[in-house]
Amino acid sequence: MQLSILITGANGQLGCELQQLIPLYPQFRFFSTDIDTLDLCDKDAVESFFDKNRMDYIINCAAYTAVDKAEDDANLCYRINCETVQNLAEAARGKAKIIHISTDYVFDGLKDGWYTEDDPTAPLNVYGRTKLAGDQAIKAAGCRHLVFRTSWLFCSQSSNFPRSILEQAHREESFDVTDDQFGCPTGMEFLASATALALHQALTSEKDLSGLYNLAASGETNWYNYALYVVKKALHLGWKLKARPENIRPVPATESGRAARRPANSRLSTARFTAAFGLTPPTWTYHVDRLIWFWTHQKTTNLRPAARPDKVIGQRFFAVTPRSRSDRP
Ligand SMILES: NC(=O)c1ccc[n+]([C@@H]2O[C@H](COP(=O)([O-])OP(=O)(O)OC[C@H]3O[C@@H](n4cnc5c(N)ncnc54)[C@H](OP(=O)(O)O)[C@@H]3O)[C@@H](O)[C@H]2O)c1
Repeated sequence: MQLSILITGANGQLGCELQQLIPLYPQFRFFSTDIDTLDLCDKDAVESFFDKNRMDYIINCAAYTAVDKAEDDANLCYRINCETVQNLAEAARGKAKIIHISTDYVFDGLKDGWYTEDDPTAPLNVYGRTKLAGDQAIKAAGCRHLVFRTSWLFCSQSSNFPRSILEQAHREESFDVTDDQFGCPTGMEFLASATALALHQALTSEKDLSGLYNLAASGETNWYNYALYVVKKALHLGWKLKARPENIRPVPATESGRAARRPANSRLSTARFTAAFGLTPPTWTYHVDRLIWFWTHQKTTNLRPAARPDKVIGQRFFAVTPRSRSDRP
């Protein structure tokens, strides 16, 4: 019997990336919903959905991800990042297992070294506090779960740090980038494929792999060195940019003027994930290279297979292009 997998928040970045992988997993039946077809804030609708539809796994990609906006929008952020997760986890208890995505922003960044899953949490901003509340809600609901804590996500189809840097380098000869926050950029493509592989592994393993795992690319950088890397790579691929790497200036985060504070250290140790699922994350530069290569050649190269879920619940057509946002973590 084919197992049924529901992707919620399917029009977001991760949701879209996961749907690109559907052709690789013919043993599963995929279903997808987004806010228009299943608003996860609506507890009754969520319960009724699971009464009517049998799902074996839920991959929850829904979230409020506008980190700076969240500082003035705490109620909505809490509803989406905590209450929806609670609604899902309670409705799914005993019926379906949940895969949920958490964030490095649950930490205060004061640790010297790499954060493990057992380190104490102390979020610095509204987004981080609401995401942490979501993680705790899953645990409290007692449903079987995999929670993946990731960091500094980017994907090819949406607004993100490499795109902002290249746009700025195209417009301006010099600009400032924060150099005192350290972490690891993680390609959405990697997060999606690792999530799908982990799900497969969780289904086939004799051990119960439920729990919390850090899941990010390998290596580390800071935003300034990340920006330099992106600009040098683009120049190498022939991009015409006004800015030269030597004219990009390192500045402290206090000069960024952003509403939400962010941790100075976001490094996540993925040793537990590797031990459980047998997958060693690639270095962050691999997916950044791929991204810039993809943007360089996208007019002539179609890298992606066509993908459709078996059913987009309550919606006739499905677009795989995420809505763009200017304010992502
Ligand atoms: N982006 C990062 O750098 C980063 C870093 C660490 C962790 N994460 C986590 O990774 C996960 C995926 O992030 P992402 O970048 O793919 O997020 P995203 O692009 O912002 O997508 C989130 C999706 O959730 C949907 N949604 C919001 N409220 C909903 C509701 N009440 N019911 C159903 N759907 C709802 C949104 O729909 P609308 O667009 O219609 O609002 C959107 O399609 C999230 O859990 C996020 O917290 C992200």
